[in-house]
Amino acid sequence: MAKPKIQYECSACGHVSPKWLGLCPACGEWHTFEEKISEKKKSSKKHKVDISNSDESDAVALKDVKQSKDEKISTNLSEFDRVLGGGLIDGSFLLLGGDPGIGKSTLMLQVAQKCPNLKILYIAGEESASQIKQRADRIGMNGENLLIYNNTDVQNVISQARKIKPDLLVVDSIQTVFSSELSSLPGSVQQIRECSAMFQQIAKKEGITTLMIGHVTKEGDIAGPRILEHMVDTVLHFEGDQSQLHRLLRGVKNRFGPANEVGVFEMRDTGLHEVNNPSDLFLAEMNSTVSGNCVTCVMEGSRPILIEIQALVTPSNYSTPQRTASGFDQRRLSLLIAVLEKRAAMSFAGQDVYLNVAGGLKINDTAADLAVVAALASSLKDEPVPEKSLYIGEVGLGGEVRRVPFLKQRLNEAEKMGFKNAVLPISDTAGTYNMTLNPADHLMKALK
Ligand code: TYD
Ligand code: MG
Repeated sequence: MAKPKIQYECSACGHVSPKWLGLCPACGEWHTFEEKISEKKKSSKKHKVDISNSDESDAVALKDVKQSKDEKISTNLSEFDRVLGGGLIDGSFLLLGGDPGIGKSTLMLQVAQKCPNLKILYIAGEESASQIKQRADRIGMNGENLLIYNNTDVQNVISQARKIKPDLLVVDSIQTVFSSELSSLPGSVQQIRECSAMFQQIAKKEGITTLMIGHVTKEGDIAGPRILEHMVDTVLHFEGDQSQLHRLLRGVKNRFGPANEVGVFEMRDTGLHEVNNPSDLFLAEMNSTVSGNCVTCVMEGSRPILIEIQALVTPSNYSTPQRTASGFDQRRLSLLIAVLEKRAAMSFAGQDVYLNVAGGLKINDTAADLAVVAALASSLKDEPVPEKSLYIGEVGLGGEVRRVPFLKQRLNEAEKMGFKNAVLPISDTAGTYNMTLNPADHLMKALK
């Protein structure tokens, strides 16, 4: 009789190795290898779950492919619709990721609340039905259209979905569902891959719109190393600082609409509230009589948002002065300080520099450079920038102020918010505004 072959399998991702390893080369987890006696090809067969009722179908010529209607069902939450590109598409497969406690489950409950005509099957893997009921009471919904299923065995979930045929299947969360055919724990890469593949079949073959909720790992991926992002049609990220009220819903990938669109919500004690004018929210507490405060306009998707940049420059007590940025790239801050020193003859030697984007927003739009530079100069000289002034423009290493895209939209937003001056790059795209425009080609000119 042949000797059984011993192999080692990673319990997190299923990677197989002939030798025991401490670190899994596939998923990067430590101490996950377990001894397995290999049984000829048994495992692959065992893992194959019957998820389709259709047998093999033939290839179809592109011209004969029936165009689906791609009708978008509005969720009646305009901020959510905006990110989806108009609404939910029948049979689409979505992933909603975010840190624990950011409000993903609340958002889904509110979709159910706002769409009483949609039958929603909610797989509750994280909370009991009574906890969900409690939350529903908090946001004031009765939820006749919401069916809660407290079972996370994927086979049971699939058969429920086939039986009920909901308009929307919400899996909360993909880390809690599991296939009993696999030996690894719920939440492992292997389980997530297998279960998501089954949900993908449910969405694509049975036309049941499916949304999976996933927690973001400490590396910033949703439910493991990027396996889910490729499978789904739409990836949404729910972001925000939990010490702040606002939450941003960002479309990271979207097969049916614009990617990178942003929806803004505020988490209050009665659930999430839509913020239709985010500029209002981010400028609400601005004090323009203090030095170091300056306003710019960043683009989040197709949406211009006015935000306040705050700088504080103070004599340092350290031998190496501090450079701290929150909501802004630290290296870009150092670069802009160097440009100010070299091109505008300002000295930050012996000064600590702190930069903050008010409201906890994280920005990476280079159009904010000029406002950062203005805030730094204002704090260094302890002179407030003129009131109701907007600063937009990218700053180059030579101190030149460079053009930025979407200038018109940015200026329109500032005008709408009652701004009186704008310092901006020299550009021929600017129109006529109810504001004084101060085009500048160099930061020396801009800072005047
Ligand atoms: P939740 O939707 O459970 O987050 P997730 O599903 O992303 O883990 O939201 C939980 C947080 O939201 C919790 O800290 C409480 C807060 N919250 C409110 O502030 N107001 C509310 O009305 C609700 C329902 C939750
Ligand atoms: Mg939740």
